[in-house]
Amino acid sequence: MSDVTPTDPTSEPTIATTSTTTSALRCEGLTKAFQGVHAVNGATFDVPQGQITALIGPNGAGKTTVVNILSGSMKCDSGTEYLGEDEVTNMESFEIARLGLMRTFQLSRELGGLTVLENLLVAPKLQPGESLFNVFFRPGTVRRAEQVNVERALEILGTYGLYAVRDDRARELSGGQKKLLEIARAVMASPRILLLDEPMAGVNPALIERIGGYILALKAQGVTVLMVEHNLNVVEKICDHVIVLAEGRTLATGRLSELRANKEVVRAYLGEVIDARPPS
Ligand SMILES: Nc1ncnc2c1ncn2[C@@H]1O[C@H](COP(=O)(O)OP(=O)(O)OP(=O)(O)O)[C@@H](O)[C@H]1O
Ligand SMILES: [Mg+2]
Repeated sequence: MSDVTPTDPTSEPTIATTSTTTSALRCEGLTKAFQGVHAVNGATFDVPQGQITALIGPNGAGKTTVVNILSGSMKCDSGTEYLGEDEVTNMESFEIARLGLMRTFQLSRELGGLTVLENLLVAPKLQPGESLFNVFFRPGTVRRAEQVNVERALEILGTYGLYAVRDDRARELSGGQKKLLEIARAVMASPRILLLDEPMAGVNPALIERIGGYILALKAQGVTVLMVEHNLNVVEKICDHVIVLAEGRTLATGRLSELRANKEVVRAYLGEVIDARPPS
């Protein structure tokens, strides 16, 4: 039996749950309105541990708002969020980051005046140097931690093809390099869960391929990924699981092949998304 779960938009969404997978992240009934407009209107879904999950849906469906809420960048009006067993609803983003969830932004948010390396060095949370006690009484600890951070940052920049531009100002990077820097900054914090908001938007096909490889490598290291993605070829290639969001609600979940095969889902909800397959 397919685990695709089309849901009637007028009723509460029924979510396919698999007893064999645990959720790294779960949300129930999230809502968020802006001046009376319901951007998110009952989004409910599971993000399975150790998998790559795609969050797809038409423009304005509420995908970025959901990512904002899940990462603590924005407070929801109602609903709940769990990281594993822990409820984290409306916690601050730094608290959620400490629990292992990092996110990237749809529009890159590099610190333009800093170098590429410095962008990574300001990213990790809870460095020993952040404590005044450590700065005054354990300078050796701070220096060692800084050295470790620099080494780690350089290694990550190497992995993401940014080593050669490590001393360039981030504002001088190309659009594609800025996308890579977004991911590298998030990875610097060693997240358990990574939310990527359109990590490949506006980049060339060769870089799309590379970024796909990086995301698969993160999965191989045990990172759980939730990525907003419009390119269904990418979703098909690298995502294990798909959540379809429309008008702020979860419309269906399952594998993309199953969603495509389900005529009812395609006709009722996905025509616009499925038909709009970009050329490969
Ligand atoms: N800060 C805000 N103030 C007012 N309205 C907002 C705000 N953020 C989002 N919205 C509205 O909420 C709705 C959902 O927006 P959101 O950016 O979450 O959609 P999306 O699915 O990410 O779209 P896209 O695919 O274009 O990135 C849209 O109608 C948008 O105009
Ligand atoms: Mg968006």
